[in-house]
Amino acid sequence: MAKAKKITFDQHYQQLFAERWESLRHALLQEVDYHCLDFGAEPYYLDRASYIAAEALGVRPGDRVLDMCAAPGGKSLVIAAALAGTGFLQCNDRSAARRQRLQRVLEQSLPPAWQGNLEISGHDGTNFGRYQPAAWDKILLDAPCSSERHVLQSPPHLAQWSPARAKNLAVQQYALLCSAVDALRPGGELIYSTCALDERENDQVIAKLLKKRAEQVQVVSYSSPLGEKTQYGWHILPDQSAGSGPIYFCKMRKKAKKP
Ligand SMILES: C[S@@+](CC[C@H](N)C(=O)[O-])C[C@H]1O[C@@H](n2cnc3c(N)ncnc32)[C@H](O)[C@@H]1O
Repeated sequence: MAKAKKITFDQHYQQLFAERWESLRHALLQEVDYHCLDFGAEPYYLDRASYIAAEALGVRPGDRVLDMCAAPGGKSLVIAAALAGTGFLQCNDRSAARRQRLQRVLEQSLPPAWQGNLEISGHDGTNFGRYQPAAWDKILLDAPCSSERHVLQSPPHLAQWSPARAKNLAVQQYALLCSAVDALRPGGELIYSTCALDERENDQVIAKLLKKRAEQVQVVSYSSPLGEKTQYGWHILPDQSAGSGPIYFCKMRKKAKKP
């Protein structure tokens, strides 16, 4: 029997984005729109969409914040700037190599007075819920994802791509998200974000959480300065956001316990 022909990257995203795919594909290959983070040390250039997602967490001075998948650290810088040396920020990432880069970024781009309340750790993010339940005021979960912009710009990654990738990543993303919910204190807030195009890694992860844990979490209404509203969050895509993104993000709150 003839083997079924493997669907290509372009065919898959053409199915998802229809006639928009051509202009989106073109935009993904162009220069990123950077936002300069300059705190008086070494400037750091972060995709404007990433800046918007990190800002959406609404960190206030004094908060205890967990950045669960933090490396290389662009969004950690946004959080550290909001804390300005107060509260506590744990920048976690499972990859040792990426943690080295994270450490360099934090040391080089933050003023010394904002570095005393930071800690870097290398845990598997799925363990926070079990070992630190209800411990954090705010959590950023910038989850590992398909990173299609990167795939499109890298022939070896493009050759290895398969539609199963998003499905497998969605399983990990959901496990990380459940851990984040468990690690959040009642009333605490989180941002779930990815740089994925595929909604299986975005709204569908949130839909699964709401289906299974509606008594624990709710989506927080938020108005992004850039991007398109989705069912639960915002998707900033470079074809319609002057080169920013892709970034998907959704803001959620852990419900207070019933007395
Ligand atoms: C999208 S990147 C994070 C980008 C980062 N937030 C920033 O703004 O620079 C996702 C990160 O998740 C890390 N990661 C993957 N699986 C993880 C896990 N189970 N626990 C903790 N970190 C994980 C990867 O090493 C990678 O650095």
